[in-house]
Amino acid sequence: MTQLPAFNPADEQVKLDLEMVEIHLLTEGIYRHYGFDFRDYSLPSLRRRIWKRVYAEGLGTISGLLEKVLHDAACMERLLLDLSINTTAMFRDPTFYLAFRRKVIPLLRTYPFVRIWHAGCSTGEEVYSMAILLQEEKLLDRCRIYATDINEAVLARAKEGIFPLNTMQENTSNYIAGGGAGTFSQYYTARYDYAIFRPSLRENVVFAQHNLVTDASFNHFNVIFCRNVLIYFNNTLQDRVQRLFLDSMEMFGILGLGKKETIRYSAVTDNYEEIDREERLYRRVR
Ligand SMILES: C[S@@+](CC[C@H](N)C(=O)[O-])C[C@H]1O[C@@H](n2cnc3c(N)ncnc32)[C@H](O)[C@@H]1O
Repeated sequence: MTQLPAFNPADEQVKLDLEMVEIHLLTEGIYRHYGFDFRDYSLPSLRRRIWKRVYAEGLGTISGLLEKVLHDAACMERLLLDLSINTTAMFRDPTFYLAFRRKVIPLLRTYPFVRIWHAGCSTGEEVYSMAILLQEEKLLDRCRIYATDINEAVLARAKEGIFPLNTMQENTSNYIAGGGAGTFSQYYTARYDYAIFRPSLRENVVFAQHNLVTDASFNHFNVIFCRNVLIYFNNTLQDRVQRLFLDSMEMFGILGLGKKETIRYSAVTDNYEEIDREERLYRRVR
């Protein structure tokens, strides 16, 4: 009878330690060669996505991926797409938009001009949602919206404003649950399998590449949205990005985070008061 090798927890630990070394070398190599900084991204999701790319490239180790990525820019592009999780939806978490309409819009009405930053906007659904909301509140004309992301490919799609028609049913329910005041279908024209959104919605929008980890502040804002991005960063990186937002935020400016994100426990907590704890809406007070 063939003897099975005995399970040795020490071997498992060695394998895990080695994997951590490889991940470290990979992220360090990417940073030094390409300038993309994934060194402080949250480990579990980073690890999963790296392995996905290792297998997709027909490789067996993370070191193999490092070699390929360093010598083949197209492979880096593919890894970049894996590492930037672009899941999004229109009026995502509709109660956030409801709270924004009720609690933030009255404050914005008192401003002659409003600068808004959507950091990590992905394919733009969040930006079009906000433009619709602001138009319904008759504020869009006095807003300038900056929509940024690390990933050029998703930004290109955001600029087009063309989304799959089969997502419109869910978008419509979200829009209504988010306090939508009109008929959602008035904002797009259906053509074949796509919904083409009204170009007027992005008249006041500037789309640009910006890396939250390595790029500096580029303006001062009255509202900053950064939803479902910080969850992919570790605590050190979250703190750094929160500092960037504080440096970019006007006094009494509004910060809107995603459902699972918070400024509590971060170094900037004392600079904000809660407008709506549940919906992660904060206001800078110092
Ligand atoms: C899950 S999507 C969130 C999209 C949208 N904010 C939402 O809540 O639906 C996360 C986005 O963050 C972007 N991202 C990841 N790391 C980034 C970084 N360092 N700088 C800027 N954007 C980043 C990704 O490219 C991706 O489009």
